[in-house]
Amino acid sequence: MIEHLGGILSPNFSVSLDTILIIDYLLVQYMEQTSMTNSNYDLFESLNHPSHIFQNEEVFEPSFIPECLLHREQELATLAQYFKPILNTNSPALGTHAVIQGSVGLGKTTIVKQFGSTLQAYSRQRQREDIAQILFFHLNCRRQRSWNILFTTILRQLVPAFPVRGFSAAELLTYISSVMKERNQKLLLCLDEIDYLIPTAKGQDILYGLIRMNEGNTLDSNSPLSLILVTRSPYLYSYLDSALYSSLSKRMIIFHPYSTAQLSDILFSRAKQGLKDCTYTNEIIKEIASIAHTSGDARYALELLWRAGKVAEGEHCSELTFEHVRKAQVSCFPIKQTLITDLPLHQKIVLFSIASVLNRQTNSMYTLTADIKRKYEALCQSKDIIPRKQTQFWVYMQELHKIGLIKLEVINRHNKGKSRGRIGKVGISDFPVLELMQLLQSDLFEK
Ligand SMILES: Nc1ncnc2c1ncn2[C@@H]1O[C@H](COP(=O)(O)OP(=O)(O)O)[C@@H](O)[C@H]1O
Ligand SMILES: [Mg+2]
Repeated sequence: MIEHLGGILSPNFSVSLDTILIIDYLLVQYMEQTSMTNSNYDLFESLNHPSHIFQNEEVFEPSFIPECLLHREQELATLAQYFKPILNTNSPALGTHAVIQGSVGLGKTTIVKQFGSTLQAYSRQRQREDIAQILFFHLNCRRQRSWNILFTTILRQLVPAFPVRGFSAAELLTYISSVMKERNQKLLLCLDEIDYLIPTAKGQDILYGLIRMNEGNTLDSNSPLSLILVTRSPYLYSYLDSALYSSLSKRMIIFHPYSTAQLSDILFSRAKQGLKDCTYTNEIIKEIASIAHTSGDARYALELLWRAGKVAEGEHCSELTFEHVRKAQVSCFPIKQTLITDLPLHQKIVLFSIASVLNRQTNSMYTLTADIKRKYEALCQSKDIIPRKQTQFWVYMQELHKIGLIKLEVINRHNKGKSRGRIGKVGISDFPVLELMQLLQSDLFEK
């Protein structure tokens, strides 16, 4: 660099060596910075490239509402049945209420949002005297953690200039009711995750007020308010007194976990919208459905699919593989490494054998236990360890299965009606095999 500068500077131009060194330093700095900026630009350039896995990633976002909810037709019909009377201006104008109960990811929020907004749109579109005008509000009690905040949120939408403070929850509720009557509208209010508001005595009082208002026992018999309560807890009623319990238990819709086949349908439908053609196979979708089947949770299943897609994208693959699914599982629920490192020696060798056989068979979820047994014996010999006999080997497999590290399926073989023994299929469900091998490798072979 100094020589280079020397060549550029004219002979008559005297510059001290220090100056040249400083210029040199600055030039090097400049060049480093430019090349860094270029490589940063490359990073963004690569992010800008269209994905070869996703065609519409938004369909995997939690806020996305699918056009049709699969396998919830019955629940939707029951909701419609319960709330049909509120549409009719001529029927005795009592409010209606219902409770939806089910664990996480069963479509409770989605169905209720879809139902409420459809009812609202229907009532507006018809514009007939015999059809009431419905206003639908969906509020999540985990986010709006007090009745005051909840009622104020509604009022601010009804009357934007409504003062933020200074009213009790009961006053706010009375005010909401009178605004609705003035407007000749009915309010369908969905309180999602109601569990967050009920446990206190005050919480119960207000809920009781809401329900009794519905039943026309308090303010007046022409209640403009209908209520859908959504709860995860099957024990909601343990918080409630018997009067409230009997009111609420009349209309209860229980959401049951999805079966593997139902989860597959949900996944397929979302994959079609969100992933590019030919990036996923039936087997991958079914595998994800069967992983999520223990909880029957569609949210988890969809998150797994999305994460597997992200892993595939990050690895520049054009198709999802079982290894991507395993990696996705780890990022959803990181498995405790100690569970693996604390295993007894022989179980570690068995687990390592499974991982290395699966790793060789690049894209299969399962392998045969006979192959594992051979690998296990070879590994034991290479370490001068006496391999355990078949019966003990099976015990190890079953123990690994019991603690959830492997999947094990036993198939009884028959030929012409006679039993021909059993074969076992084994897989690793929720840990990428390469990572598992690395973890065990250092433990088993590098000491
Ligand atoms: N029957 C279904 N059909 C399509 N998508 C569903 C279905 N059930 C749930 N989902 C999807 O699963 C995710 C979780 O649903 P959500 O309604 O939030 O469940 P919950 O309120 O019961 O926890 C959402 O992305 C939703 O779109
Ligand atoms: Mg929900």
